[in-house]
Amino acid sequence: MSDKQINILAIESSCDDTSAAVISNGKVLSNLVATQKVHEQYGGVVPEMASRAHMQKIVPVVDVALKEAGISKNELTAVAFTQSPGLIGSLLVGACFAKAYAQSLNLPLLSVHHMQAHVLAHFIDKPHPEFPFLCLTVSGGHTQIVLCRSHLDMEVIGETQDDAAGEAFDKTAKMLGLPYPGGPMVDKMAQTGNPLKYSFPISDIKGYGFSFSGVKTAVLYFLQEQKKNNAAFVEENINDICASVQHTIIQTLLQKFEHAAQEYGVQHLGIAGGVSANSGLRAAFADMCAKNGWQAHIPQFQYCTDNAAMIGITGYYKYLRGDFADMSVSPTAKASWQ
Ligand code: KG4
Ligand code: ZN
Repeated sequence: MSDKQINILAIESSCDDTSAAVISNGKVLSNLVATQKVHEQYGGVVPEMASRAHMQKIVPVVDVALKEAGISKNELTAVAFTQSPGLIGSLLVGACFAKAYAQSLNLPLLSVHHMQAHVLAHFIDKPHPEFPFLCLTVSGGHTQIVLCRSHLDMEVIGETQDDAAGEAFDKTAKMLGLPYPGGPMVDKMAQTGNPLKYSFPISDIKGYGFSFSGVKTAVLYFLQEQKKNNAAFVEENINDICASVQHTIIQTLLQKFEHAAQEYGVQHLGIAGGVSANSGLRAAFADMCAKNGWQAHIPQFQYCTDNAAMIGITGYYKYLRGDFADMSVSPTAKASWQ
């Protein structure tokens, strides 16, 4: 094994967080995330504003990431960036920056799939999961069960047919008048609520698929009905409503995940993506693993939501495999894994 330092600059710009990280031999030296506050007043991400904000932030964010890491640009070995999926304008800013940076320094380029990176966030901190490893990736745009046979050999064995788990949280929050992004607010309110106070349907999709559009509609009709009798229903019961909806989403996710883990006979399980920051999901997942004698892997909060460190760690494994991108690579809003 060579003792060469592999220093990777990683860029993540798929949605509304501008992030840069420096990873040295698989270890995170810095991980900067500049969250774009501009979207809050609109109750969701405005794509055009996101691209513009990325353009303003990318240079200073990269500068600080290098400074914090104590690595000069001349000590870099490669540049990694998010190629897909995401908002095309946002992806373009990160991709153009990464390509120009790599070309000017004559460095190889590593093109990374955002969903694969969420899974590989588990390989930032030790102990690393052992293979086969089953990961439930729950974000604002995706809900997937992923079987990993090695770092880069992954198979999506089930995914949502409609809304993602994060959307179910965000749309519930919107109906309750909570600010965007709603997931963290629902989580906070749910902590002092009764999860069994109200019941909502748990979807039953064949195989390892999920559906979250039903729970969203059920919450909408439920609130409309309750408000007919009591205009202050939401204000008076917000904690119990949040706890009950969160409970439904967690049950929907974990019932399928437990079943998949049993069928595939895996011992190492993990949760990833923005929704894996949810305190209720983290606790219920840990309980499920303890009950079955499985090893539970839960990333630090900073590696659950979008971050460049996960792009860097994925880039590192691609670098070790010699899997480099051509300078003609372009970002795409949607792409399959490989
Ligand atoms: O992975 P992520 O940062 O971005 C995407 O790739 O989509 O996930 C964002 C999603 C949002 O829907 C947000 O509401 C949700 O993750 N989220 C949470 C929590 N923190 C973030 N949902 C529930 N509870 C949380 N604590
Ligand atoms: Zn994400």
